[in-house]
Amino acid sequence: MFFLYGVVVRQKICKLKQLNESFCFEFIVKNATEEKDAFLIFFKGQYYAYINDCPHTGVNLNWQPGQFFSMDGLLLQCSLHGALFTPENGLCVRGPCQGQYLTAINIDVNEEAVFLRENGLVVIK
Ligand code: FES
Repeated sequence: MFFLYGVVVRQKICKLKQLNESFCFEFIVKNATEEKDAFLIFFKGQYYAYINDCPHTGVNLNWQPGQFFSMDGLLLQCSLHGALFTPENGLCVRGPCQGQYLTAINIDVNEEAVFLRENGLVVIK
């Protein structure tokens, strides 16, 4: 049960130690109608989560499982046409969708885990 009398009950996305060596974790969320791939990153001391859809064509960003960062580790990069996104807010700063944003997912973090805090979404994997 994820919704209780209109209150969103937080759901665990993963434990902090489950992020890979690139500080990423892939998961799947579901809204009322569809499932979406999503990912979590740790960057400069903060956690961020996004739906894994490039604003250019809607494909998954990553070029390999769990690999979202550019070679220098400073930006998120789409594997198809190379669009670059700011990790902190998902803004495309270079590429065919420049000026557009990744869809951010609200999260909550404690000392052990990251939780989804998004009304209308549930973590299914
Ligand atoms: S599909 Fe991502 S930049 Fe074209």
